[in-house]
Amino acid sequence: MKVLVTGGAGFIGSHTVVELQQAGYDVVAIDNFENSSKEVFQSIQQISGKPFIGIEADIRDKNKLNEVFTAYPDIEAVIHFAAYKAVGESVENPLAYYENNVGGTVNLLEAMRNHSVKHLVFSSSCTVYGDVPAEALPITESSPVVKANSPYGNTKKVCEELLFDVSKSSEVKIVALRYFNPIGAHDSALIGELPNGVPNNLIPFVTQTAIGIREKLTVFGNDYPTRDGSCIRDFIHVVDLAKAHVKAITYLANTKRKFEVFNVGTGNGNTVLEVITAFEKVSGRKLNYQIGGRREGDVVQIFASCDKAEQELGWKAERTLENALETAWKWELHLADVKKNQTN
Ligand code: UD1
Repeated sequence: MKVLVTGGAGFIGSHTVVELQQAGYDVVAIDNFENSSKEVFQSIQQISGKPFIGIEADIRDKNKLNEVFTAYPDIEAVIHFAAYKAVGESVENPLAYYENNVGGTVNLLEAMRNHSVKHLVFSSSCTVYGDVPAEALPITESSPVVKANSPYGNTKKVCEELLFDVSKSSEVKIVALRYFNPIGAHDSALIGELPNGVPNNLIPFVTQTAIGIREKLTVFGNDYPTRDGSCIRDFIHVVDLAKAHVKAITYLANTKRKFEVFNVGTGNGNTVLEVITAFEKVSGRKLNYQIGGRREGDVVQIFASCDKAEQELGWKAERTLENALETAWKWELHLADVKKNQTN
């Protein structure tokens, strides 16, 4: 079976292409490389040892999308990662976020309709739950979706609504996976997270600080009502997350349900300070960090109930926080090696 992966050179996309290939699927991966690099496709092939089709394409380009489906009429399912994901940037430039994240999804759905492709897995986010009270944790899929606190978050909410409507009015079946905090890298250290410029997310900032690219990590707040005052998140290994997509593809082939959402996390929450301690342990490096003020828009704490994914997808996170941090660190060391070889 052939699967189209949009954003296939991205952080989660690249790990998912590897898992799909290892599970025996044929892959067509597209990416516009705006926030990723072309070499990622080679690294994926190096890991899996199997060729796949990699194409430069932008989901905002309807004609190009249709060309891809025309060239590969045996595509039976789509996993849609391609999107912008920086919260702050989305506040500055909401139109770009709506155009790419929502408009791109509309284009993709149209192209799927034109070519009778009926299965879609969509990258959603736990951001749709907003700031939840401690009693509501671990959060389940039946918790209400609230008003988004950024244009980025709203694009995920709007896309879920759009996909629900499309599933009702057509034969398309859709699974939206609500990711918690994906971290880590492939065991081979050949693929991982490659943020452009100064990272917004915690783990790349941690590893870049440890290797000396950044001077100091700032912990955004230690006065939250949590066990050590820092925020709590559900950090999930990207390889576990990638595997959830393979399960979702199998699920779509067997279910009669038209639209389902699943949380994809570990079920455990860790504080930012716990992550730092665990990172220092696995890397053997002392991390230079300071406590700073709260970051606007941060939720205090969130972690997933993953019972639904376990029962219905047959998926469960298997890896530990330590393993995720260890692989993230190996990836940062690999990037440093590559850089060193380039300058020599
Ligand atoms: C953020 C988005 C989320 C989005 C995800 C995409 C917000 C509120 N949420 O998740 O909607 O799906 O990115 O990648 O922006 N931290 C520090 N210092 C740093 C960086 C982060 O202390 O330099 C803390 C944050 O305050 C937070 C935790 O680390 O408590 C995780 O932050 P981050 O990795 O940015 O993810 P989220 O904010 O959870």
